[in-house]
Amino acid sequence: MLDTAIRNAEIVTAGDRFRAEIGIRDGRIVAVAEDVGAARTEIDAAGLLALPGGIDAHVHLEQYQGGGVVMADGFESGTRSAAAGGTTTVMPFALQQKGQSLRAAVAAYHAAADGKCYVDTSFHLIITDPTPQVMGQELPALVKDGYTSFKVFMTYDDMVLNDAQLLEVFDLARREKAMVMVHAEGYDAIRYMTRRLEEAGQTAPYFHAKSRPQSVEREATHRAISHAELTDVPITIVHVSGREPMEQIQWAKRRGMNIWAETCPQYIALEADDLKGLNMDFEGAKYVCSPPPRDRDSQEAIWEGLRDGTFDIFSSDHCPFRFDDPKGKDVAGARTAFRWVPNGIPGIETRLPILFSEGVSKSRISAERFVALTATNPARLFGLYPRKGTIAVGADADITLWDPAREVTLSQSLLHHDCDYTPYEGMQVTGWPVRTILRGQTVWDGQKVTGAMGAGLYLDRGTSQAFR
Ligand code: URP
Ligand code: ZN
Ligand code: ZN
Repeated sequence: MLDTAIRNAEIVTAGDRFRAEIGIRDGRIVAVAEDVGAARTEIDAAGLLALPGGIDAHVHLEQYQGGGVVMADGFESGTRSAAAGGTTTVMPFALQQKGQSLRAAVAAYHAAADGKCYVDTSFHLIITDPTPQVMGQELPALVKDGYTSFKVFMTYDDMVLNDAQLLEVFDLARREKAMVMVHAEGYDAIRYMTRRLEEAGQTAPYFHAKSRPQSVEREATHRAISHAELTDVPITIVHVSGREPMEQIQWAKRRGMNIWAETCPQYIALEADDLKGLNMDFEGAKYVCSPPPRDRDSQEAIWEGLRDGTFDIFSSDHCPFRFDDPKGKDVAGARTAFRWVPNGIPGIETRLPILFSEGVSKSRISAERFVALTATNPARLFGLYPRKGTIAVGADADITLWDPAREVTLSQSLLHHDCDYTPYEGMQVTGWPVRTILRGQTVWDGQKVTGAMGAGLYLDRGTSQAFR
């Protein structure tokens, strides 16, 4: 006897779309068939799509910020919001502070997450201080322990790695078969632009976008790709914002290089002009993230890339700071200078509805491509496949039942994060997660989060399929 049968749904995977029933026992999918037989719990999914639970491979929760800034979401509210948005696995970052042991950073992050999560999690690492101890011992040991990916930054005062350090990290990643995620924006160019803008008195949030134009991202993207070529390692360029950096990725992929790419909702749904706020005021801080949103042409380019395979994954880059809070966007208290506004916006719960609505409902991408970008490819890229990321016998029963016709107006009042705003306020979407199932248990029933805090498991990961 099955624990649960899902009947009458149309199943969508990265490769197919078909009608079948899904049988679940002990948290795993044990049958996908015309008739899976008797079950203790029946779910009638008529009119709904059954999608693999979303995997959000780029999320910041309770990440140390410094300077008195505190992230709006910890593991409890962040994973609760994920569940309500149809996401069953989130991948946040364990950040090494400069001078800190990487092991200690990972242990502290586990302590923060333990017992708090509504969905499954697995950590990437952030390397800010590649000391001989970190490079020689800690990082290789952590990769063997299942932390098979790490992020490096080409900008930010407290995180930037120079080219020599990037090359060392890339080289280690090749040896250990770990996936490097690269934040590609040029540090010195941003510093130069920031100084010039400040000297001209241009300090409103909008000028954040002016301080890091596409050329800054394009140059760093090309530099990261060249370093990957030298060291012969696959890398993932994360949060790609527009046409110019995307063209660098296309150039690399055309040459047969093992380069992977991610984009995010803000690059299809927001524009640099949103940073102007109401009248070049501090409202614009609600949209300050890096790289910044661009323009219509770049949005069109991102759609081309989502369709043609330039982009492999679509993540939220959920990085929430409260707007009306001296520990959030307004940490400097002056409500003026963009230099002090923490970079990042919330989006863990709205990621899937925005891509589905703007992509599938508007016929820009197929439902299969939606699944590939939001679940299957992240699982493959980060060593979670085939346990996660698909609907198949043997996989975890992580399933999102999706109403493709449900019309919703996005609003802060609907969301389950602890941020005090959504940058997508008022946006109309068609398509909505009406039930989220994590390892066979309903954790979101379309009205409320029904899962238990602490029910989310920590996932050790294998090697990225990029190495095969
Ligand atoms: O603005 C952003 N994206 N902040 C989050 C940190 C990062 O670079 O991903
Ligand atoms: Zn980044
Ligand atoms: Zn990020």
